[in-house]
Amino acid sequence: DPVVSSGTPARPTTKRSQVKLMLAELIDGQLSAGEAIQSERNLVRELGVSRVTVRQAISDLVAEGRLERVHGKGTYVTGPRVDSRLHLTSFSREMRARGLEPGTRVLDAGKMAAPPQVAHALRIATGDPVVRVERLRTADGTPMAHELGYYPCAYFPDLLDKDLGSLYDIFASDYAVIATSGEQTVHAGAADSNHARILGVPKRAPLLVQDRVTWSGERAIEYATSWYRGDRYRIHMAVTPHG
Ligand code: GLP
Repeated sequence: DPVVSSGTPARPTTKRSQVKLMLAELIDGQLSAGEAIQSERNLVRELGVSRVTVRQAISDLVAEGRLERVHGKGTYVTGPRVDSRLHLTSFSREMRARGLEPGTRVLDAGKMAAPPQVAHALRIATGDPVVRVERLRTADGTPMAHELGYYPCAYFPDLLDKDLGSLYDIFASDYAVIATSGEQTVHAGAADSNHARILGVPKRAPLLVQDRVTWSGERAIEYATSWYRGDRYRIHMAVTPHG
């Protein structure tokens, strides 16, 4: 990547950037996601700067996604944001690679007969037994994604007896099955009341919807849909010349 500037950044000179730096240090050092910063009035008093300056500094941090304003309530530290690099990786590994602690809440898990669409995606017969797993995935405790996946029982007997924290880890450790390739689409979505409740976002909040069929060699091992929070997750892709 081209380096535009190097060396130690100079101490900021404007009041606005000084207040911004001070708040950023507070966010990094003392506050955790979901906590409120002090009121504008308190900051004005404590820092001896104008209200305009405090507002500008906060606006800069809101624009960078580090703070969010909630009308009539206050200004809060936002949760983690993740850039996904479109590798065939698991949620757990993706979060750990970013220094975040992955978490899972199993919302529902059970055996069922594969409906036609699921059977088609998994290249099995309609009615073949599959395990359906619905989970909430978190990063450092913040809800990130709501996931629903189907897994053929033929490849994963007794899957329901396992701790369904990281499925890909269980596949590797308990079944010697490693995901080798996948095909995925991503489209825009909006939270319905169910997603909103599970993910802790307002109804109609933007979501990134990922549909994935995951393969292990010749076998389709997973058909899953993941609803990622649009305010927490973005997809990063290297674009290469074509032709
Ligand atoms: C990603 C994929 C899912 C997959 C999951 C496995 O989130 N979108 O399709 O099921 O990774 O992650 P884990 O091993 O943490 O369960």
